[in-house]
Amino acid sequence: MRKIALITGINGQDGSYLTELLLEKGYDVHGIDRRSSQFNRGRIEDTRQEAQKRGQVFELYYGDISDFSSICRIFSNCKPTEIYNFASQSHVAISFEEPAHTTDVNANGVLRLLEAMRYFAVEGCRFYQASTSELFGNAPETPQNENSPFHPRSPYGVAKLYAYWIVKNYREHYGIHACNGILYNHESPRRGENFVTRKITYSLARIKAGRQDVLKLGNIDAQRDWGFAKEYIEVMWKMLQNEQADDYVIATGETHTVREFIEKASAIAGFDIEWEGKGVEEKGRDKKSGNIIVEIDPKFYRPEEKTILCGDASKAKRVLGWKPKTTFGQLVEMMMKADLELIDSGK
Ligand code: NAP
Ligand code: GDD
Repeated sequence: MRKIALITGINGQDGSYLTELLLEKGYDVHGIDRRSSQFNRGRIEDTRQEAQKRGQVFELYYGDISDFSSICRIFSNCKPTEIYNFASQSHVAISFEEPAHTTDVNANGVLRLLEAMRYFAVEGCRFYQASTSELFGNAPETPQNENSPFHPRSPYGVAKLYAYWIVKNYREHYGIHACNGILYNHESPRRGENFVTRKITYSLARIKAGRQDVLKLGNIDAQRDWGFAKEYIEVMWKMLQNEQADDYVIATGETHTVREFIEKASAIAGFDIEWEGKGVEEKGRDKKSGNIIVEIDPKFYRPEEKTILCGDASKAKRVLGWKPKTTFGQLVEMMMKADLELIDSGK
């Protein structure tokens, strides 16, 4: 049977890596592209052109998961055998600024996809939902696994919790093959510039090039379980190949602070950072130049994070044979070097 994938959020970090993986595996790839006032296919355009040269199917459709008619049209056009839902307002802090929009896309959008799937997708079509460690939020235990209690603490997390349950409900009620990948933070040189890792590497590269003075951040003692996005994509695909649909925690099982990320990245960029002051007055000075390059801006503070989000991915290891390989140090180095090159290239 021809394998036909439909990817929502195809222009995002994960969508772009999954596109490459599925094309390599010989899939026809179809993607939903949200209309924007500027060209926003930067992460996938080269791949699309190369696929077309090879004669592979790689089609993009304008659509939006808040628009049911666009989803129905696309489903009946491309008749997917696998659907990967990445479309989301994916920024936790911004979900407090846009709570209703976030809920419509991240919660109701998933329901719309599942409903469209019942009527327009081919028999046996499988569904992957991009779920998140933000479901756990202030959960009472660390590390978290598939049985840990949920306690989301943002409109983003609450909307994703609805999505998690509706996917599970459609699996149980209609018998569809639908999986929740409960993924912890995963990063790469393709990460959006307002997530903390990429904000750090991109800003340090700009500071190095004299194009920015200071990097302003919120809580630099916050900890995250950071993995490499390209490796996390592989396990999403594995979930849909497994006969039994299920939900999996995907994580490295290791946490690091934002401060550690800054220290490693700044050393790679050629800075020698030392910290002075406390709380909002804390600053990072480059000993070599004497310049302040990091400052705290309370604007970027989040509500108190009581629980350390750290995932236990032993079920994915046991059932799917997956485990992460890239270390924290390698991830920081990869991202920092990519941004130094990017800024150097003047693109
Ligand atoms: P991302 O880079 O922000 O990509 C999200 C994509 O969704 C973008 O292409 C965006 O389109 C698209 N989108 C947003 N609203 C849409 C709508 N209404 N209709 C159709 N498309 C829409 O996010 P990511 O890092 O690749 O993450 C992929 C998914 O995994 C997201 O659902 C995210 O919440 C979830 N997740 C991510 C992580 C992580 O650490 N990266 C961890 C756990 C879960 P534009 O390009 O036009 O903005
Ligand atoms: N974005 C941002 N900007 N975060 C900052 C900053 C800043 O200036 N300063 C400190 N942080 C801290 C945040 O408080 C948080 O504790 C941590 O850095 C990571 O923030 P983000 O990179 O924005 O990621 P996130 O953990 O909130 O959300 C990401 O991961 C989730 C999975 O756990 C997103 O990709 C979500 O879509 C995803 O579900």
